Amino acid sequence: MLPVKKNSKESNPQTKDILLIVAAMTLGGIFSYTYFQKYYYNKKPIRIYLDGCWDVMHSGHYNAIRQAKMLGDILIVGVHSDEEIAYHKRLPVMNNEERLAAVKACKWVDEIVFDVPYSPTNALLDRDDIKADFVAHGDDIPYDADGRSCYEEVMHRLKTFKRTPGVSTTMLINRLLAASKYIKDFDNEIDDSNIDENSNTEFHENENVESKDNRCETWCQFLPTSHRVGAFSNNRAPKANDKIVYIDGDFDLFHVGHISALKEAKAKGTYLYVGVFDDITIQKHKSVHFPLMSLQERILNVLSCRYVDEVIIGSPFEITKEMISTLNIHLVVNSSTTSFVSKDETRFNIPKQMNIYEHIIPKDSSITTNALIHRLVKDHKLYEEQNQKRIQRELKYHNEKKYVPES
Ligand code: CTP
Repeated sequence: MLPVKKNSKESNPQTKDILLIVAAMTLGGIFSYTYFQKYYYNKKPIRIYLDGCWDVMHSGHYNAIRQAKMLGDILIVGVHSDEEIAYHKRLPVMNNEERLAAVKACKWVDEIVFDVPYSPTNALLDRDDIKADFVAHGDDIPYDADGRSCYEEVMHRLKTFKRTPGVSTTMLINRLLAASKYIKDFDNEIDDSNIDENSNTEFHENENVESKDNRCETWCQFLPTSHRVGAFSNNRAPKANDKIVYIDGDFDLFHVGHISALKEAKAKGTYLYVGVFDDITIQKHKSVHFPLMSLQERILNVLSCRYVDEVIIGSPFEITKEMISTLNIHLVVNSSTTSFVSKDETRFNIPKQMNIYEHIIPKDSSITTNALIHRLVKDHKLYEEQNQKRIQRELKYHNEKKYVPES
């Protein structure tokens, strides 16, 4: 059969199709551009408000801040005053300045407001320095001193996230109280209201490291996962032109003394590696009563700090030539607030010989782990009494809790 010849109109259907496609693409392009303009360029950032006591900052707090930040674009963190915490909860271990400094150093915090009420109100969220669209809290909504839910008024603006199980200030105070019992002159010190917070603390050391298990029941409930570490990580490897600084320590009860050391160390270069010693190294070189936070808890705290680029999990005690070349370290910093082994400086011999060693005394070096223990020793009866009530509350929360997914 001969092929049928089509007329000229029918013979050119592709031209029509192409024209239609071009028109659709142009219209689609204009529409997408307008959409992009409206929703991305002109989009109003979502402001999230998250308040807290932030006393003895721990990985649960940092994870709360991280999750709250993911609920919006700008995170405003409210910090309660010492008086507000003492009235509604308990005597804080860390004071206003120390708690503020810890929050300020956290990499997910965009803005801070101090001295906020324990129960947020709509007027507070609308205040000029806050202007929050939403308020965030863990799924453990607290009650004020009068037994009222703190989030009653702002319930319609509340977004919750998963509370991190297994870690809390209450548990840490318990660990501090347990460790303080081993201080040699514990009984004398509690009668003395003028003890020097930074005086050397001597512990009863009658147990050997291998058999040591003096940790209270509030020690090991924290479940670290690689996902959690990944979520905290910056995921940034050093670039060829980075000046790499290294600092190490125990970073136990991560506090303002540690933070100011990290800030000063980072200022000496462009990339900061932080070596975090494992638990056994700390027991061996410091005391069998330490650390009070596990290695996993300590690395998460350090990773939350805005001055830190990367951590070495369970870093070597001695800084070797191999380590310096592997990590391409340009400067090793030793700080009076991160190093607990000031007597043994031989571990720095190699960087000293290579002329890449510097000892710093950070501006804020007033606080140490021992200082915190002394604070608890001073008021230990009060802390014990207040903590018992909170432990019961926490146990109730854990017992009744169902699975909640994490952001
Ligand atoms: N938070 C959390 N996980 C924890 C501890 C606290 O997600 N393990 C959250 C709280 O839900 C709250 C914020 O951190 O949204 C601030 O908590 P804060 O007021 O400091 O204290 P608590 O909730 O009582 O925690 P803690 O007992 O540790 O003081």
